[in-house]
Amino acid sequence: MSFKDKKFHILSVDDTETNRLVIEKMLRSEGFKVTSASNGMDAIALLSDVITPDLILLDIMMPEVNGYETCRIIKNAGKRMAEIPVIFLSAMNDLKDITNGFEVGGVDYITKPFQKVELLARINTHLKLKHYQDKEIELTQRELIYTIARITDVHSSETGNHIKRVSEYAKLLASLAGYDEEQAEVFKLAAAMHDIGKIGIPHEILNKPGKLTDEEYIKMKEHPAIGHKILSESQRPLLRAAAIVAYEHHEKFDGSGYPRGLKGKEIHILGRITALVDVFDALDTPRPYKQRWMINDTLQHIQKESGRHFDPRLVQLLVKNFKHFRKIRDNFPD
Ligand SMILES: [Fe+2]
Ligand SMILES: [Fe+2]
Repeated sequence: MSFKDKKFHILSVDDTETNRLVIEKMLRSEGFKVTSASNGMDAIALLSDVITPDLILLDIMMPEVNGYETCRIIKNAGKRMAEIPVIFLSAMNDLKDITNGFEVGGVDYITKPFQKVELLARINTHLKLKHYQDKEIELTQRELIYTIARITDVHSSETGNHIKRVSEYAKLLASLAGYDEEQAEVFKLAAAMHDIGKIGIPHEILNKPGKLTDEEYIKMKEHPAIGHKILSESQRPLLRAAAIVAYEHHEKFDGSGYPRGLKGKEIHILGRITALVDVFDALDTPRPYKQRWMINDTLQHIQKESGRHFDPRLVQLLVKNFKHFRKIRDNFPD
Protein backbone atom coordinates (compact mmCIF):
# COMPACT_ATOMS: atom_id res chain seq x y z
CA MET A 1 0.00 0.00 0.00
CA SER A 2 1.33 3.44 -0.84
CA PHE A 3 2.03 6.01 1.85
CA LYS A 4 -0.82 8.22 0.65
CA ASP A 5 -3.46 5.49 0.80
CA LYS A 6 -2.56 4.12 4.17
CA LYS A 7 -4.63 5.01 7.22
CA PHE A 8 -2.08 5.41 10.00
CA HIS A 9 -2.81 4.53 13.59
CA ILE A 10 -1.43 6.68 16.40
CA LEU A 11 -1.34 5.89 20.09
CA SER A 12 -1.51 9.02 22.23
CA VAL A 13 -0.49 8.71 25.87
CA ASP A 14 -1.26 11.57 28.24
CA ASP A 15 -2.58 11.67 31.82
CA THR A 16 -4.52 14.93 31.28
CA GLU A 17 -7.92 14.33 29.78
CA THR A 18 -8.17 17.69 27.98
CA ASN A 19 -4.84 17.02 26.27
CA ARG A 20 -6.01 13.62 25.13
CA LEU A 21 -9.22 15.07 23.72
CA VAL A 22 -7.44 17.90 21.88
CA ILE A 23 -4.94 15.51 20.30
CA GLU A 24 -7.60 12.94 19.39
CA LYS A 25 -9.75 15.56 17.72
CA MET A 26 -6.87 17.10 15.83
CA LEU A 27 -5.47 13.79 14.55
CA ARG A 28 -8.86 12.35 13.62
CA SER A 29 -9.67 15.42 11.58
CA GLU A 30 -6.44 14.75 9.67
CA GLY A 31 -7.58 11.20 8.87
CA PHE A 32 -5.57 9.30 11.48
CA LYS A 33 -6.92 6.48 13.55
CA VAL A 34 -6.27 7.33 17.21
CA THR A 35 -6.15 5.28 20.38
CA SER A 36 -5.59 7.05 23.71
CA ALA A 37 -4.14 5.84 26.98
CA SER A 38 -4.07 7.80 30.22
CA ASN A 39 -0.86 6.33 31.65
CA GLY A 40 2.26 4.39 30.78
CA MET A 41 1.14 1.01 32.06
CA ASP A 42 -2.13 1.16 30.12
CA ALA A 43 -0.19 2.08 26.99
CA ILE A 44 2.14 -0.88 27.44
CA ALA A 45 -0.77 -3.22 28.08
CA LEU A 46 -2.44 -2.04 24.86
CA LEU A 47 0.80 -2.43 22.93
CA SER A 48 1.48 -5.87 24.34
CA ASP A 49 -1.51 -7.58 22.91
CA VAL A 50 -4.18 -5.30 21.56
CA ILE A 51 -2.77 -2.81 19.08
CA THR A 52 0.27 -2.17 16.88
CA PRO A 53 0.10 1.56 16.10
CA ASP A 54 2.37 3.19 13.54
CA LEU A 55 3.54 5.88 15.95
CA ILE A 56 3.31 6.78 19.63
CA LEU A 57 2.90 10.29 21.09
CA LEU A 58 4.14 10.13 24.64
CA ASP A 59 3.72 12.58 27.48
CA ILE A 60 6.53 12.56 30.08
CA MET A 61 5.15 13.81 33.38
CA MET A 62 2.66 11.16 34.37
CA PRO A 63 2.00 9.54 37.75
CA GLU A 64 3.61 6.16 38.56
CA VAL A 65 5.45 5.24 35.38
CA ASN A 66 6.63 8.39 33.61
CA GLY A 67 7.13 8.79 29.84
CA TYR A 68 10.88 8.05 29.89
CA GLU A 69 10.34 4.81 31.77
CA THR A 70 7.43 3.87 29.47
CA CYS A 71 9.61 4.48 26.44
CA ARG A 72 12.42 2.40 27.91
CA ILE A 73 10.04 -0.53 28.44
CA ILE A 74 8.69 -0.19 24.90
CA LYS A 75 12.18 -0.11 23.39
CA ASN A 76 13.26 -3.17 25.35
CA ALA A 77 10.17 -5.17 24.44
CA GLY A 78 10.02 -7.44 21.41
CA LYS A 79 10.87 -6.17 17.95
CA ARG A 80 7.24 -5.52 17.01
CA MET A 81 6.78 -3.01 19.83
CA ALA A 82 10.32 -1.64 19.90
CA GLU A 83 10.22 -0.56 16.27
CA ILE A 84 7.29 1.82 16.68
CA PRO A 85 8.60 5.41 16.60
CA VAL A 86 8.00 7.40 19.79
CA ILE A 87 7.61 11.19 19.78
CA PHE A 88 7.76 12.85 23.18
CA LEU A 89 5.27 15.61 23.79
CA SER A 90 6.09 17.45 26.98
CA ALA A 91 5.92 20.76 28.81
CA MET A 92 9.45 20.14 30.07
CA ASN A 93 11.79 22.08 27.83
CA ASP A 94 15.17 21.84 29.54
CA LEU A 95 18.03 20.65 27.36
CA LYS A 96 18.51 17.90 29.95
CA ASP A 97 14.91 16.69 29.54
CA ILE A 98 15.11 16.74 25.78
CA THR A 99 18.43 14.89 25.77
CA ASN A 100 16.95 12.30 28.08
CA GLY A 101 14.05 11.80 25.66
CA PHE A 102 16.39 10.93 22.80
CA GLU A 103 18.54 8.78 25.04
CA VAL A 104 15.67 6.48 26.01
CA GLY A 105 14.84 5.94 22.33
CA GLY A 106 12.49 8.75 21.26
CA VAL A 107 12.78 9.85 17.60
CA ASP A 108 11.59 13.36 18.31
CA TYR A 109 10.72 15.77 21.11
CA ILE A 110 8.06 18.43 20.88
CA THR A 111 7.39 20.92 23.65
CA LYS A 112 3.94 21.83 24.91
CA PRO A 113 2.08 23.97 24.13
CA PHE A 114 2.69 22.72 20.60
CA GLN A 115 1.86 24.25 17.24
CA LYS A 116 -0.54 22.11 15.26
CA VAL A 117 1.42 22.49 11.99
CA GLU A 118 4.64 21.51 13.67
CA LEU A 119 3.22 18.45 15.38
CA LEU A 120 1.55 17.24 12.17
CA ALA A 121 4.66 17.86 10.09
CA ARG A 122 6.85 15.89 12.46
CA ILE A 123 4.35 13.05 12.74
CA ASN A 124 4.24 12.82 8.95
CA THR A 125 8.01 12.88 8.63
CA HIS A 126 8.45 9.98 11.04
CA LEU A 127 5.62 7.98 9.53
CA LYS A 128 7.16 8.43 6.11
CA LEU A 129 10.60 7.38 7.29
CA LYS A 130 9.25 4.28 8.95
CA HIS A 131 7.05 3.43 5.98
CA TYR A 132 9.85 3.56 3.40
CA GLN A 133 12.25 1.75 5.69
CA ASP A 134 9.76 -1.09 6.15
CA LYS A 135 9.05 -1.23 2.43
CA GLU A 136 12.72 -1.43 1.57
CA ILE A 137 13.32 -4.24 4.05
CA GLU A 138 10.28 -6.10 2.79
CA LEU A 139 11.30 -5.81 -0.85
CA THR A 140 14.87 -6.87 -0.15
CA GLN A 141 13.65 -9.83 1.85
CA ARG A 142 11.27 -10.88 -0.88
CA GLU A 143 13.87 -10.64 -3.63
CA LEU A 144 16.41 -12.56 -1.61
CA ILE A 145 13.91 -15.32 -1.01
CA TYR A 146 13.19 -15.74 -4.70
CA THR A 147 16.89 -15.50 -5.50
CA ILE A 148 17.66 -18.32 -3.10
CA ALA A 149 14.75 -20.35 -4.42
CA ARG A 150 16.00 -19.86 -7.99
CA ILE A 151 19.45 -21.16 -7.04
CA THR A 152 17.82 -24.41 -5.94
CA ASP A 153 15.77 -24.46 -9.11
CA VAL A 154 18.80 -24.16 -11.33
CA HIS A 155 20.60 -26.85 -9.35
CA SER A 156 17.69 -29.25 -9.65
CA SER A 157 16.68 -28.15 -13.17
CA GLU A 158 13.20 -27.46 -11.85
CA THR A 159 11.12 -26.12 -14.68
CA GLY A 160 9.86 -22.64 -15.26
CA ASN A 161 7.51 -21.01 -12.84
CA HIS A 162 6.93 -23.88 -10.41
CA ILE A 163 8.19 -21.83 -7.44
CA LYS A 164 6.12 -18.78 -8.36
CA ARG A 165 2.98 -20.84 -8.79
CA VAL A 166 3.46 -22.85 -5.63
CA SER A 167 3.88 -19.65 -3.63
CA GLU A 168 0.83 -18.00 -5.18
CA TYR A 169 -1.22 -21.17 -4.66
CA ALA A 170 -0.10 -21.34 -1.03
CA LYS A 171 -1.17 -17.76 -0.48
CA LEU A 172 -4.53 -18.34 -2.10
CA LEU A 173 -5.18 -21.53 -0.16
CA ALA A 174 -4.15 -19.83 3.10
CA SER A 175 -6.64 -17.01 2.42
CA LEU A 176 -9.36 -19.53 1.62
CA ALA A 177 -8.55 -21.30 4.88
CA GLY A 178 -9.23 -18.05 6.74
CA TYR A 179 -5.79 -16.50 7.21
CA ASP A 180 -5.58 -12.74 6.82
CA GLU A 181 -3.63 -10.94 4.11
CA GLU A 182 -0.47 -10.53 6.17
CA GLN A 183 -0.40 -14.18 7.23
CA ALA A 184 -1.20 -15.39 3.72
CA GLU A 185 1.81 -13.39 2.51
CA VAL A 186 4.01 -15.33 4.95
CA PHE A 187 2.64 -18.60 3.54
CA LYS A 188 3.47 -17.37 0.07
CA LEU A 189 7.08 -16.47 0.76
CA ALA A 190 7.72 -19.48 2.96
CA ALA A 191 6.33 -21.85 0.32
CA ALA A 192 8.77 -20.46 -2.23
CA MET A 193 11.57 -22.08 -0.25
CA HIS A 194 10.06 -25.56 0.13
CA ASP A 195 12.77 -27.39 -1.82
CA ILE A 196 15.73 -25.35 -0.71
CA GLY A 197 17.25 -28.49 0.85
CA LYS A 198 17.77 -29.92 -2.64
CA ILE A 199 20.87 -27.79 -2.76
CA GLY A 200 22.41 -30.55 -0.63
CA ILE A 201 21.43 -33.40 -2.97
CA PRO A 202 23.82 -34.40 -5.75
CA HIS A 203 22.97 -32.98 -9.15
CA GLU A 204 23.07 -36.47 -10.76
CA ILE A 205 20.34 -37.74 -8.45
CA LEU A 206 18.10 -34.71 -8.93
CA ASN A 207 18.42 -34.90 -12.69
CA LYS A 208 18.50 -38.63 -13.23
CA PRO A 209 16.22 -39.34 -16.18
CA GLY A 210 15.16 -42.80 -15.04
CA LYS A 211 13.88 -44.22 -11.78
CA LEU A 212 16.01 -43.70 -8.67
CA THR A 213 17.65 -46.69 -6.99
CA ASP A 214 16.64 -47.34 -3.37
CA GLU A 215 19.88 -45.81 -2.24
CA GLU A 216 19.39 -42.69 -4.36
CA TYR A 217 15.84 -42.35 -3.13
CA ILE A 218 16.99 -42.45 0.48
CA LYS A 219 19.48 -39.72 -0.33
CA MET A 220 16.78 -37.67 -2.07
CA LYS A 221 14.56 -37.93 0.99
CA GLU A 222 17.13 -36.02 3.00
CA HIS A 223 16.20 -32.71 1.36
CA PRO A 224 13.52 -31.69 3.89
CA ALA A 225 15.91 -32.10 6.82
CA ILE A 226 18.67 -30.26 4.96
CA GLY A 227 16.32 -27.37 4.15
CA HIS A 228 15.16 -27.24 7.73
CA LYS A 229 18.74 -27.16 8.98
CA ILE A 230 19.66 -24.29 6.64
CA LEU A 231 16.63 -22.17 7.50
CA SER A 232 16.15 -22.85 11.18
CA GLU A 233 19.38 -21.09 12.13
CA SER A 234 17.47 -17.83 11.68
CA GLN A 235 15.33 -16.18 14.32
CA ARG A 236 13.29 -14.17 11.79
CA PRO A 237 9.64 -15.25 11.75
CA LEU A 238 9.53 -15.56 7.97
CA LEU A 239 12.55 -17.83 7.79
CA ARG A 240 11.25 -19.87 10.69
CA ALA A 241 8.03 -20.38 8.74
CA ALA A 242 10.09 -21.37 5.70
CA ALA A 243 12.01 -23.86 7.86
CA ILE A 244 8.71 -25.54 8.78
CA VAL A 245 7.65 -25.69 5.13
CA ALA A 246 10.99 -27.17 4.07
CA TYR A 247 10.80 -29.78 6.82
CA GLU A 248 7.16 -30.82 6.47
CA HIS A 249 6.17 -30.52 2.80
CA HIS A 250 6.59 -34.28 2.23
CA GLU A 251 4.64 -35.34 5.28
CA LYS A 252 1.31 -37.01 4.58
CA PHE A 253 -1.93 -36.55 6.47
CA ASP A 254 -2.19 -40.28 7.29
CA GLY A 255 1.34 -40.40 8.72
CA SER A 256 2.95 -42.22 5.78
CA GLY A 257 5.12 -39.29 4.64
CA TYR A 258 8.69 -38.35 5.46
CA PRO A 259 11.00 -37.41 7.14
CA ARG A 260 9.21 -37.76 10.46
CA GLY A 261 5.96 -39.53 9.60
CA LEU A 262 3.86 -36.80 11.24
CA LYS A 263 0.13 -37.28 11.17
CA GLY A 264 -2.93 -35.02 10.74
CA LYS A 265 -2.66 -31.76 12.63
CA GLU A 266 0.79 -32.72 13.90
CA ILE A 267 1.83 -31.45 10.51
CA HIS A 268 1.90 -27.67 10.66
CA ILE A 269 -0.68 -25.93 8.49
CA LEU A 270 2.23 -24.43 6.53
CA GLY A 271 3.38 -27.96 5.72
CA ARG A 272 -0.10 -29.23 4.89
CA ILE A 273 -0.82 -26.35 2.54
CA THR A 274 2.50 -26.58 0.73
CA ALA A 275 2.24 -30.36 0.38
CA LEU A 276 -1.06 -30.00 -1.43
CA VAL A 277 -0.20 -27.14 -3.75
CA ASP A 278 3.20 -28.62 -4.60
CA VAL A 279 1.63 -31.85 -5.82
CA PHE A 280 -1.22 -29.99 -7.48
CA ASP A 281 1.25 -27.99 -9.52
CA ALA A 282 3.39 -31.01 -10.34
CA LEU A 283 0.39 -32.86 -11.76
CA ASP A 284 -1.00 -29.81 -13.45
CA THR A 285 2.14 -28.98 -15.45
CA PRO A 286 4.07 -31.06 -17.94
CA ARG A 287 7.46 -32.45 -16.89
CA PRO A 288 10.17 -33.93 -19.12
CA TYR A 289 8.99 -37.42 -18.16
CA LYS A 290 5.25 -36.85 -18.28
CA GLN A 291 2.47 -34.90 -19.92
CA ARG A 292 0.30 -32.49 -18.02
CA TRP A 293 -2.65 -34.28 -16.49
CA MET A 294 -6.13 -33.30 -17.52
CA ILE A 295 -7.56 -31.04 -14.85
CA ASN A 296 -10.26 -33.56 -13.99
CA ASP A 297 -7.68 -36.28 -13.45
CA THR A 298 -5.68 -33.93 -11.25
CA LEU A 299 -8.69 -33.01 -9.14
CA GLN A 300 -9.77 -36.64 -8.96
CA HIS A 301 -6.34 -37.71 -7.80
CA ILE A 302 -6.28 -35.02 -5.16
CA GLN A 303 -9.71 -36.03 -3.91
CA LYS A 304 -8.68 -39.66 -3.82
CA GLU A 305 -5.75 -38.65 -1.64
CA SER A 306 -7.92 -36.58 0.70
CA GLY A 307 -7.26 -37.83 4.22
CA ARG A 308 -4.37 -39.95 2.95
CA HIS A 309 -1.79 -37.60 1.50
CA PHE A 310 -3.71 -34.36 2.06
CA ASP A 311 -5.71 -32.53 4.69
CA PRO A 312 -9.39 -33.09 3.69
CA ARG A 313 -10.41 -29.54 4.55
CA LEU A 314 -7.75 -28.11 2.26
CA VAL A 315 -8.65 -30.50 -0.55
CA GLN A 316 -12.22 -29.31 -0.33
CA LEU A 317 -11.18 -25.68 -0.51
CA LEU A 318 -8.92 -26.28 -3.50
CA VAL A 319 -11.46 -28.31 -5.46
CA LYS A 320 -14.23 -25.85 -4.76
CA ASN A 321 -12.09 -22.94 -5.89
CA PHE A 322 -9.94 -24.53 -8.56
CA LYS A 323 -10.91 -21.85 -11.10
CA HIS A 324 -8.97 -19.30 -9.05
CA PHE A 325 -5.98 -21.63 -9.00
CA ARG A 326 -6.35 -21.93 -12.75
CA LYS A 327 -6.02 -18.20 -13.09
CA ILE A 328 -2.71 -18.28 -11.25
CA ARG A 329 -1.42 -20.94 -13.62
CA ASP A 330 -2.42 -18.81 -16.58
CA ASN A 331 -0.51 -15.89 -15.08
CA PHE A 332 2.64 -17.93 -14.53
CA PRO A 333 2.97 -20.34 -17.44
CA ASP A 334 6.19 -22.25 -18.06
FE1 LIG B 1 10.45 -31.46 -1.92
FE1 LIG C 1 8.10 -28.36 -5.52
